[in-house]
Amino acid sequence: MTQHTSRSHPTADALTLTEKASLTSGAGDFVTEAVAAVPAVSMSDGPHGLRLPKEAGDGGQLDLHSASPATCFPPAVALGSSWDAELAEQVAGAIAVEARDHGVHVVLGPGINIKRSPLCGRNFEYFSEDPLLTAELGGAVVRGLQRSGVGAALKHFAANNQETDRMRVSADVDERPLREIYLRAFERIVRRDRPWSVMSAYNALNGTPLSENRRLLTDILRREWGFDGIVMSDWGAVRDRVAALAAGLDLQMPTTRGRTDAEVVHAVRSGELDVRELDAAVERLALFARRTTAAVSTDSDPVDYEEHHALARRAAERCVVLLKNERELLPFDPAAGSLAVIGELARTPRYQGAGSSQVTPTHLDTPLDALRESTGGAAVEYAPGYRIDGTPDEELLAQAVRLAAGSESVVLFLGLPAQDESEGFDRDHLDLPAVQLALLERITEANPRTAVVLSNGGVVRTAPWHERVPALVEGWLLGQGGGTALARILFGHAAPSGRLAETIPLRLEDAPSHLSFPGEEGHVRYGEGVFVGYRGHDQRGNDVAFPFGHGLTYTTFTYSDLAVAQAPADRIEARLTVTNTGPRSGRETVQIYVSAPDGSRVARPPRELRGFAQVDLEPGQSREVTVTFDRADLAYYSERETGWFVEGGTYTVAAGASSRDIRCTAPLTVDGDVSTVRLTGRSTLGEWLSHPVGGPLLLEAFAAGRTQHSDGAAGALADPVLRRFLAGMPLEVIAEFPQSPVSPSHLDALCERAARTPSN
Ligand code: BGC
Repeated sequence: MTQHTSRSHPTADALTLTEKASLTSGAGDFVTEAVAAVPAVSMSDGPHGLRLPKEAGDGGQLDLHSASPATCFPPAVALGSSWDAELAEQVAGAIAVEARDHGVHVVLGPGINIKRSPLCGRNFEYFSEDPLLTAELGGAVVRGLQRSGVGAALKHFAANNQETDRMRVSADVDERPLREIYLRAFERIVRRDRPWSVMSAYNALNGTPLSENRRLLTDILRREWGFDGIVMSDWGAVRDRVAALAAGLDLQMPTTRGRTDAEVVHAVRSGELDVRELDAAVERLALFARRTTAAVSTDSDPVDYEEHHALARRAAERCVVLLKNERELLPFDPAAGSLAVIGELARTPRYQGAGSSQVTPTHLDTPLDALRESTGGAAVEYAPGYRIDGTPDEELLAQAVRLAAGSESVVLFLGLPAQDESEGFDRDHLDLPAVQLALLERITEANPRTAVVLSNGGVVRTAPWHERVPALVEGWLLGQGGGTALARILFGHAAPSGRLAETIPLRLEDAPSHLSFPGEEGHVRYGEGVFVGYRGHDQRGNDVAFPFGHGLTYTTFTYSDLAVAQAPADRIEARLTVTNTGPRSGRETVQIYVSAPDGSRVARPPRELRGFAQVDLEPGQSREVTVTFDRADLAYYSERETGWFVEGGTYTVAAGASSRDIRCTAPLTVDGDVSTVRLTGRSTLGEWLSHPVGGPLLLEAFAAGRTQHSDGAAGALADPVLRRFLAGMPLEVIAEFPQSPVSPSHLDALCERAARTPSN
């Protein structure tokens, strides 16, 4: 026994109880304790660059505003719109190089929470409303960091989808949406990309705070998914340190200066906490420290910040989404005449959101400077048009309108002011500031050749005004290289290729979460279930302003010859040919959506993204594109089966340029999983009849019963209304009817026979 303990807990066995306890909480705001052979681990926010705060003195107050410069890459809202995992991995690799240069062992990201509501104040830090897209990009960030020896902290685990009351609210989520939507990206990344740490969220899930949630932290994360890293708390998320440790939370952050360490020591001594729980956490922390500190070297080559700035620009280019481009207004031709650049945001760009993710950039490209530079001397005139704080200014407006009227074309920069969105609070509407909307109206009257460029971290409402502008560019928050990226796209030096990672609804009221966001009195009920984002818009048949997956470029593509087949290793392969039918080279993002067979046992979204691929094509060029995914991805999460379940039948596989621009479809017939649910007397007549084994058995019993009891049951089943009436009744209730051809004793035998034969 002693031997067993020492073998499984080599680090813990060498430490005193007090040392062990101290290892499981921070030593400062962003550093863990060094204890004996276990080195300290230093951390920095991210996720889209390093926030290198100064810590005053020994674990003293964090100074948010004096961070040292680091490259500010596009935040997740933008990177999500690139749909480009390779790019995300490259960006994360560059962040890791900077981290190592600063002696940072762990970058606190990526944030992979699902955008449940367009109002979430922190949506700029998250990738998408879709779990697959989130997993592809978030997983790439984990790989990019850890490949370079820097730990990722996958956050915020889990169901942290709003900022309102974020430190107390209970997200009340049913098991199916929890698994299919809110845990799915975590699961995929943990299983495939093996992050070294996960950060537990502030909120509670179904009443239990995440940092004390044994089901999530231990049963699901570790036991089901095989996670072997540490769970750290979000900053200040731990209320009961002992309960948290027992639930599987290894590290409380930030420091409590020994206060809660003493509680842990006391709990072990009093028998309240099993020391083996503490020892297990200590071993995991020791492994984490080894993993994360192995790669940092002080004598590495200096970081090439110029090259990282260039990467930030290239990355930003891939994130810009061209929503609309009528009469080929874009790209602008500098030779065609004067261009008016209007909007304070062209000169004072918003390029990241506020809160813990705020990076001090090494450079900042402004769209105005970049537009001027890229015109090669052609006239670019500028007017700010509005005050960024939203206060009206008639003179600024009039000046901008005069400029627009006298110019060949206009590019108008609009967007959300910084005070509208931040970590810590949610927005309460989707509209642009009134002064900007007023300006937009006047500018488009003065010059119809107006392209609008948006800067915003959360979705803004574009209806109804988008009807009036021929070209609309969603520039999100693009990081420090965004100004140049936008100029290159507006002038056609680069082709836009971004795609919406979230729906732009016509109205806030259309958002599927609308009726239950952000909840009240400490609870937010995820009443829309799995119908989040496009899944809900499609199910409700909502018109939307711009659908999930949408994005144009300066050329056009056709899709042909979609073929879908089962491939080895339980994979499914969709192949098709994509052709560039327009005048320029461009990148197409082919999206594969799957619809469940008719008559599914549960309500399935009309279509769900199951894979995607990007292809670069020259004019006239064709290429075959292959997208593969797992047969298991067809499953829904069944509470009855207590697990993922693939229904048998014919699925529809669709290739689309967006969730609403399906270009071709093909059927896919799949054998279903074997059900573990057995028919019983509580199963309804309907369930019996639709069961492949139970149905025929029951009909057989009914036929036999008919000889004794006239044609009671058969007659009832032949009457469509009566059949539906009876279909919802448990068979044991029907068996009690005097005329029933199946008696209660008969029923037991029937259940046994049905149970003996497996079915799907
Ligand atoms: C945020 C985390 C962040 C942490 C440390 C928290 O308030 O929710 O995302 O990593 O602070 O700054």
